[in-house]
Amino acid sequence: MTEASSQSGLSNLLHEERRFPPTPEFAEAANYSADAYESAAKDRLAFWDTQARRLDWHREWTETLDWSAAPFAQWFVGGTLNASVNCVDRHVAAGRGDRVAIHFEGEPGDTRSITYAELAVLVAQAAHALTELGVRTGDRVAIYLPMIPEAVVSMLACARIGAAHSVIFGGFSAQAIYDRVVDAGAKLVITSDGGWRRGKVFPLKPVVDEALEKFGPGESPVAHVLVVKRGDNEVAFTEGRDLWWSDVVDKQSKHHEPEFFDAENPLFILYTSGTTGKPKGILHTTGGYLTQVAYTHHAAFDLKPETDVYWCTADIGWVTGHSYIVYGPLANGATQVIYEGTPDTPHQGRFWELVQKYGITILYTAPTAIRTFMKWGADIPAKFDLSSLRLLGSVGEPINPEAWMWYRQVIGGDRCPVVDTWWQTETGAIMISPLPGVTAAKPGSAMRALPGISADVVDDQAQPVPNGGGGLLVLTEPWPAMLRGIWRDDERFVETYWSRFAAQGFYFAGDGAKKDEDGDLWLLGRVDDVMNISGHRISTTEVESALVSHPAVAEAAVVGATDPTTGQAIVAFVILRGSATEEQAAGGEQIVTELRNHVAKEIGAIAKPRQILVVAELPKTRSGKIMRRLLRDVAEHRSIGDVTTLADSSVMNLISQGMSSGKAED
Ligand code: PRX
Repeated sequence: MTEASSQSGLSNLLHEERRFPPTPEFAEAANYSADAYESAAKDRLAFWDTQARRLDWHREWTETLDWSAAPFAQWFVGGTLNASVNCVDRHVAAGRGDRVAIHFEGEPGDTRSITYAELAVLVAQAAHALTELGVRTGDRVAIYLPMIPEAVVSMLACARIGAAHSVIFGGFSAQAIYDRVVDAGAKLVITSDGGWRRGKVFPLKPVVDEALEKFGPGESPVAHVLVVKRGDNEVAFTEGRDLWWSDVVDKQSKHHEPEFFDAENPLFILYTSGTTGKPKGILHTTGGYLTQVAYTHHAAFDLKPETDVYWCTADIGWVTGHSYIVYGPLANGATQVIYEGTPDTPHQGRFWELVQKYGITILYTAPTAIRTFMKWGADIPAKFDLSSLRLLGSVGEPINPEAWMWYRQVIGGDRCPVVDTWWQTETGAIMISPLPGVTAAKPGSAMRALPGISADVVDDQAQPVPNGGGGLLVLTEPWPAMLRGIWRDDERFVETYWSRFAAQGFYFAGDGAKKDEDGDLWLLGRVDDVMNISGHRISTTEVESALVSHPAVAEAAVVGATDPTTGQAIVAFVILRGSATEEQAAGGEQIVTELRNHVAKEIGAIAKPRQILVVAELPKTRSGKIMRRLLRDVAEHRSIGDVTTLADSSVMNLISQGMSSGKAED
């Protein structure tokens, strides 16, 4: 959401009267009580020390936080640890090797259960393989895999040898892989022949090949491509570079002696969209990140590792997969389900079938999925036994109260607490969320900052807004899982997050929020040019750059328009070049389809505009700035706002006529 639309959202927010406190039994057994808020408020750093001690450290830290070079933080200074030991070995050493870490369910129905003891062997062998392929501590490894156990194993193997992983979502294009491999300087790419999706194996290795072909001779940093066999796709191998996972990994020793790394050793880079066309490599390090993901997974989901079966439906390619499939749950010794495919394959009850089959107790998913299930109808989940569920989580975008209520009643049988968790790739871990054993949740509100976290809503002058007021969400104190920077771009890091409220030292999240009459927080969406499509961040500029890279396009303006299922949807307005054919210039189906596919090729299918409208002019101010606010009005079928600053006010009439003629609908 942008500044203009979030501001209008502030005034018409619902007055929500409904409250859902935990049952006395839930509260009684909960991992955290209200005391946690108090103890964290009394001594925040001592609180984080306690959380860090939930991990195994090789060497204790000497200082909890060094903020002297703010905004460049160091947490648990001088401490050393190994993230993979914390996620795997220590559970085996404690006698829990037989506990299932991962119940894997492939889309075609193949299954694989991996215990912690088995996971230890898989990680050990993969770690040896990485070393054999020349990967060293401090190197970067790109991972482009479907949702299969090898994705988790690869990430942990990198962590084990102190190399940073850069996971690239399997839906991203060759260009996106190339950009990320170049920026991170990845030495190795781990991929597969493909992954199952909607009954077919989609190709991955060929996309990596296409990405690596973009390098000139001698330019590629990638020495090897390691290929997991998942489907039966034919793949072409480049001699000397490409290797089968099974050939390199399976022969390795099943034991791997870990090294221990500094708490600030990079754990991963994950690219996310900013307001420019170039994605930002968000850098996370080891000790603070692991501390907070483990703590929040324990606190916000009330995880009981002995009895819970946890399922996070995110993809490993996003931060939710990193923090709440890999590092948080495994650090806590959880048993979890990993599912490869889509929710409607082979039928629309697949998720609920999995809940029933594995006796899932904790489910973490996204509002866009919940709204899709609502659309499919309550009779579908009704066919399955969902009585094992005891807690439901939501993440990725604001959850509207209707979806929240449906989730609670239809999926949660009106007995499960719903936790709406606000956080970002940059925050690394959950920041704002109910504590399920404490909070009387309100449908649609993420409620309060978790114990140990300090958030506020401020106006442009950095003044906290009073209850009932709206403004910008800021984080007022550093937190352990905070990003440590943007990979190789300190300046952009400072500028993006720390310059807006530099005097106060606040982190600017880029989200609008409101405090209600009780001081509880309601997230309202982005205030910058970042769109949120099904919980995924895509910048308007990225899509605009992709569009103008097509030879027929002269100029493009992209906005995020409200969408009932995906939260926001991409709507593009394009001006074609003079060389465009008459048919193209008429904005017919052919050019629209071609441009949508072009964007998918440049960025990935998630960035395909829902609508593209070919226009003769774009609304611009006299200084030439495109007025996206007006385009959003058109895209959301609203009457058009103030046009007095337009250089040519007739432009908007033409555009809205084009929109209402429906020509742009795909
Ligand atoms: O706008 C907020 C929205 O998603 C953005 C972060 O996106 P990303 O880094 O891709 O991480 C998504 C998963 C953590 C935020 O700036 N967002 C995330 N969770 C919520 C949310 N908006 C409202 N409510 C949430 N619970």
